[in-house]
Amino acid sequence: MKEELKILPKHIGFIIDGNGRWAKERGLPRSMGHDAGMKNLDVVIKECFYTYGIKTVSLYAFSTENWNRPKKEIDFLIKCFRKYLNKSFVERYPKVKLNIMGDYTVFPQDLVENAKRTIEETKNNTEFVLNLGINYSGQDEIVYAVNKIIKSGEKEVSRKTIEDNLYTACQEPLDFCIRTSGEQRISNFMLWQISYAELYFPKTYWPDFGKKDLFLALKEFEKRDRRFGAIKEEK
Ligand code: FPP
Repeated sequence: MKEELKILPKHIGFIIDGNGRWAKERGLPRSMGHDAGMKNLDVVIKECFYTYGIKTVSLYAFSTENWNRPKKEIDFLIKCFRKYLNKSFVERYPKVKLNIMGDYTVFPQDLVENAKRTIEETKNNTEFVLNLGINYSGQDEIVYAVNKIIKSGEKEVSRKTIEDNLYTACQEPLDFCIRTSGEQRISNFMLWQISYAELYFPKTYWPDFGKKDLFLALKEFEKRDRRFGAIKEEK
């Protein structure tokens, strides 16, 4: 399928949505939707990296607003993060550098230690980058970057200094952002980096968004006419 695509995004983002509705439609508890969603993460991320060679994948897994969910659901999600970031990450994702967006130090200590260790162990991987948004907010990220600049003694900020101080410093901006489940919102995801991204809103719930759906999404990306505010010269 890859051969059919001539233009691919260098940086793709996923706003994972619809796990709860997926579970509800099946008469299952919400946690089962997250469980299915987590299994699907592995499939889609690996497909992006190892089938299509997309360099950077960003995921919105838990926003700063998600703390308002019931404790039972939050506890389950924390268990998912713990499982995902365990020691086997390095074997599961060869050549991938893990980068966490958001203050993950608020999570339980064992999870924080696992995450720190994985970041350290993968820091020299140059082929692929996985940006994981947990306890993440795009507005907070910009504030965080500006505060870092102020602390460094700069009197003024510029686009460049902000970019250099975001969680995604030195990375390409988002080219393509997919939000599953039919909702058509950005919900505070990578506000700076998404400026010129193409947006795609399939109706499919995240646990059902498989390899075929990814291919169709990438086909759609290929069709988009990206002008970045300019116009095409007339012949
Ligand atoms: C959105 O669906 C999903 C979330 C807020 C959580 C996503 C988290 C996981 C899949 C767990 C694993 C993640 C990692 C990175 C290990 P929703 O619950 O808002 O669905 P709904 O809108 O249908 O209720």
